[in-house]
Amino acid sequence: MIKVGIAGASGYTGLELIRLLANHTKVKLSVLTSETYQNNSIADVFPSLNGIIDINLQSLDSQALQSCDVVFLALPHTAGMDLVPQLMESDCKVIDLSADYRLKNPDDYLEWYSVTHTHPELLSQVVYGLPELNREKIKNAKGVANPGCYPTSVILALAPLLKTDWIDFESIISDSKSGISGAGRKTSITTHFAEANEGLTPYSLVNHRHTPEIEQELSNLAGKPIKISFSPHLIPMNRGMLSTIYINLTNKLNDEHLTEHYEKFYGNEFFVRILDKGKFAKTQSVSGSNFCDIGIKLDNRVNRLVLTSAIDNLIKGASGQAIQNMNIMLGFEEKTGLQSPAIFP
Ligand SMILES: NC(=O)c1ccc[n+]([C@@H]2O[C@H](COP(=O)([O-])OP(=O)(O)OC[C@H]3O[C@@H](n4cnc5c(N)ncnc54)[C@H](OP(=O)(O)O)[C@@H]3O)[C@@H](O)[C@H]2O)c1
Repeated sequence: MIKVGIAGASGYTGLELIRLLANHTKVKLSVLTSETYQNNSIADVFPSLNGIIDINLQSLDSQALQSCDVVFLALPHTAGMDLVPQLMESDCKVIDLSADYRLKNPDDYLEWYSVTHTHPELLSQVVYGLPELNREKIKNAKGVANPGCYPTSVILALAPLLKTDWIDFESIISDSKSGISGAGRKTSITTHFAEANEGLTPYSLVNHRHTPEIEQELSNLAGKPIKISFSPHLIPMNRGMLSTIYINLTNKLNDEHLTEHYEKFYGNEFFVRILDKGKFAKTQSVSGSNFCDIGIKLDNRVNRLVLTSAIDNLIKGASGQAIQNMNIMLGFEEKTGLQSPAIFP
């Protein structure tokens, strides 16, 4: 059995990793960390794990984590930045769920996160872990930067268009909505029940930190610089994320042709589902699963394409995708532990 460590096991993505890995046939949870709850059992922190996992949480300690074969860093940005090289130097594979190794230009990291990166030399070695688009590089990686949730929903929806001449590349707008677990378990005024419930709240308009990540990956795929308008919103539900993306077209297209093009692009990808003509992606169909559903709709009146892309922010947007990356890195069947359909209703 592969020994797994989770740094940040008491957070939402940490819990989701534990929940999914509890059903994984090839791994054994070995080290779980939390500063707040150290020496408590994880089942005391999350009673949903009672009778299933009984491991005591310990403080973040690189020695303990280095004894694992794979470590997931489910920590806020910067908290695990210096651990990545230590783990990569040992015989351990590391999958970082934070943004620390996603942006490949350290100047971008400084600009958007206001922090100087302490290991810029590693940025090119740590692979951006979007399996459907980067599988070959992930296979040989010692370190993977797991994509952000919004970027996953936006990049997967746009990728099939980036080598075509069908769209006006300067016209891309993503209007995206996230459930509240996207902000993590720590409390804040914005995510306080009375502030968020019964409301729909735009936040970080025009300067959300996922913007450079989306632009970096879209530009790499297109082979030319791409900028987008990105408008995130907080929606009062626990989990789920929907991006509705608008793009002006340069040619007249039809829905059948576009749908066929998307189906061909994603071929046999299990976790990306291209919806039948006329159907829209919705969070109810993916929440609790590792799927990304993509709907395609032409607005012929204004010659614009409207895409809908739905994921579970905690699964395909974080922990599920991280396990998908682990499966690829270790040569396991990619779907192992991830085949559950959405939880509905
Ligand atoms: N939530 C999402 O939907 C989502 C999606 C994609 C990516 N991510 C990224 O995944 C990472 C984890 O997010 P999350 O939502 O799980 O956050 P969270 O619920 O706030 O959990 C954070 C975890 O990190 C630990 N921690 C916090 N500060 C620490 C420090 N200085 N040293 C050691 N441990 C520390 C916390 O432990 P204690 O408080 O118990 O000490 C907790 O276990 C973040 O980088 C986030 O951006 C989140």
